[in-house]
Amino acid sequence: MASRPHVALIGMMGSGKSTAGFWLAQSEGLRFVDLDAAIEERHGRSVSEIFKADGEERFRDMEQSELDGCMTSAQPLIVSCGGGVVLRAGNRALLRQRAWVCWLRASIETLTRRIRTGNSRPLLGENPVADLIQISDARAALYAETAHRVIDVDSLEASQVAERIKHIWPHQPSLR
Ligand code: S3P
Repeated sequence: MASRPHVALIGMMGSGKSTAGFWLAQSEGLRFVDLDAAIEERHGRSVSEIFKADGEERFRDMEQSELDGCMTSAQPLIVSCGGGVVLRAGNRALLRQRAWVCWLRASIETLTRRIRTGNSRPLLGENPVADLIQISDARAALYAETAHRVIDVDSLEASQVAERIKHIWPHQPSLR
């Protein structure tokens, strides 16, 4: 375990993990990793291209491997996880063990407002709102089981989310 735990942000696509994580890392002087961006950089393709060419399971393998790399880093990191990181039990266990995990919980209205449709969200089809509801319902228990804390982000700007995390994040190794 690093001397300070990593901070991992989880939650649905559009919940603001990347922006809040970036702010937090800036103000804490820590390295920020966006898991999706790290996968894209490593494999030289966008997440959408990976989904299209290789399928979701292969993407989940890449995601798991990228998460493993982050969680075993000796340097404390602020990690923004893709919304589906909680689907694998191994990821959930690793996150609980190695990071202080915060669920950025948003209503479907907020998610819908923040998500621009297009080909950058491979899990959203012709009816993105219905897809968001279905995915969010299916994952709520997994986010809850993985998170050490929850922040309801509907009325908060990313910078305010980062400020809240700063105040509740335990800056010490013990997580349990
Ligand atoms: C996914 C969320 C995306 C990305 C991929 C799958 C998901 O990340 O990992 O499209 O399963 O919810 P963001 O949550 O950062 O948008």
